[in-house]
Amino acid sequence: MSAREGGWSIMTGIMDSILTKAAAARKTITLPEGEDCRVALAAAELSKRGLARPILVGDGARISRAAADCGADISGVTIEDPAISPDRERYMQTFYELRKHKGVTPDQARDIMGNPMYFGVMMVNEGKADGQVSGAAHSTADTVRPALQILKTAPGVLIVSSCFVIIVPDCQYGENGLFIYADSGLVIDPTAEQLAEIAITSANTLRTLFGVEPRVAMLSFSTKGSAKHNMVDKVARATEIAKSRAPGLALDGELQADAALVDWIAERKAPGSPVAGKANVLIFPDLQTGNIACKLTQRLAKAQAFGPILQGLRKPVNDLSRGCDVNDIVNVAAITAVQAAQ
Ligand SMILES: CC(C)(COP(=O)(O)OP(=O)(O)OC[C@H]1O[C@@H](n2cnc3c(N)ncnc32)[C@H](O)[C@@H]1OP(=O)(O)O)[C@@H](O)C(=O)NCCC(=O)NCCS
Repeated sequence: MSAREGGWSIMTGIMDSILTKAAAARKTITLPEGEDCRVALAAAELSKRGLARPILVGDGARISRAAADCGADISGVTIEDPAISPDRERYMQTFYELRKHKGVTPDQARDIMGNPMYFGVMMVNEGKADGQVSGAAHSTADTVRPALQILKTAPGVLIVSSCFVIIVPDCQYGENGLFIYADSGLVIDPTAEQLAEIAITSANTLRTLFGVEPRVAMLSFSTKGSAKHNMVDKVARATEIAKSRAPGLALDGELQADAALVDWIAERKAPGSPVAGKANVLIFPDLQTGNIACKLTQRLAKAQAFGPILQGLRKPVNDLSRGCDVNDIVNVAAITAVQAAQ
């Protein structure tokens, strides 16, 4: 894509490439909030367009009623009801083994496996599904906890984090308006080591989802020592750690946001930087800055934001905003399918 191209057609193009990859992968995705009309409609859409094999996890009668009420044709969609599933007892045992060191009893494990959010993640753990998407009717913490407790981190990964895919219309910055923002949804106050890992996993997410070479900016209110503070020191230290762990990655810091994005400012503030002026992965020092930046970009720049996309889990689980619409759910399910295909 040329930098002059812009606008909503690019957004469509970017998401289209994800949808095409998802359709080729045809992964099985659990959706444990099927009583929500938006989720039922999204399941119908995923199935009809062949983007995934959706499984609605929950009370079968209620899911069917909700689908009928909102006109969702879920005839091609599997429903898995934990209350009558022959797998529940086995899943209960697995969960008990995983959590007994935390004081979970067999009875508690049985109850927990009645919760579709946990049951769906256990299906992913057991290979009955490839990924889960939830959060249309639950908080981020409720979506993430089952994944942390059951799936845990991928080999070699210390921490699960999250990112948002941001697509800004008519924008010459980043990858023609495409960015990864991290962490904007999960890790509240990362250490320098954790921040370094967030940077490396976010770079991988950009590569995996879009086939784009990442240029990672470690953001701060300082550029290359222009300000002194222990908050700046954390970002500088994270930059050093990330560079030593991923020497081939284009990554630099600490950088202010304008130096990260704008080439003529980069030339003055960070000359010679391989990233300044052209960053497409923006790493924020903590969740306050990451989340605020994400919301501001959405509202002020009319950007589309997909996520939080969880990174670093052994198998993919992704979160939705409670304000999501059917299209958002379809898109996040497609992103999950592409993650699962890697
Ligand atoms: C996700 C979140 C709920 C985890 O909180 P928590 O209190 O640590 O949750 P739990 O204690 O139940 O953690 C469950 C397990 O996951 C582990 N864990 C927690 N965060 C983890 C992470 N980022 N990566 C890997 N493991 C993690 C815990 O150590 C714990 O392990 P254990 O029980 O086996 O010892 C918390 O980080 C959070 O609330 N983040 C903010 C989310 C939010 O509100 N976002 C809003 C913007 S969208």
